[in-house]
Amino acid sequence: MEIRNLNRNDFDQVINLLVTSFSSRYNHPPINENLNNPNTICLVAVIDNVIIGVASLYIIEKLTRKMGLIEDVAVDLKYRGKGIGKKLIQKLIVESKKQGCDKTVLNSTENNVPFYEKIGFTVNELQMVLRNN
Ligand SMILES: CC(C)(COP(=O)(O)OP(=O)(O)OC[C@H]1O[C@@H](n2cnc3c(N)ncnc32)[C@H](O)[C@@H]1OP(=O)(O)O)[C@@H](O)C(=O)NCCC(=O)NCCS
Repeated sequence: MEIRNLNRNDFDQVINLLVTSFSSRYNHPPINENLNNPNTICLVAVIDNVIIGVASLYIIEKLTRKMGLIEDVAVDLKYRGKGIGKKLIQKLIVESKKQGCDKTVLNSTENNVPFYEKIGFTVNELQMVLRNN
């Protein structure tokens, strides 16, 4: 298994992984095309040219500090429980530190809290949302 940066040829497979892992709401290609943006790091886990995992880190530059936001975390159902999700997140944490972020945050569903806790995250503040569409 290899973990590498997302490239344009991966888009269809990644969309498919997000749709099957979350919902058809993710079926809105193209993916964020701005892969050269240094504040976006998107990693994929690959076996035999097939994408079996994805996770992204967005560097948010605040007024006085930077923080990393982890999003779009998914591992193909057939490959779950093999440490792939953990490896993807750990690599993003390293990247977040390298980029000078003072913290790394993410939103989790209740059932995934133990997964993130095993990596070192703790439940912190409450998230609020107002959907624009
Ligand atoms: C959440 C997800 C990314 C985890 O990926 P994964 O590759 O299966 O996780 P790993 O195998 O790396 O798990 C690492 C550890 O966390 C544990 N773990 C993983 N998911 C867990 C869960 N939901 N509840 C409890 N423990 C969990 C594993 O057993 C493993 O424990 P170990 O280190 O003691 O062996 C994967 O289940 C997934 O894609 N789910 C659907 C999409 C999703 O919910 N994404 C996250 C959005 S918040």
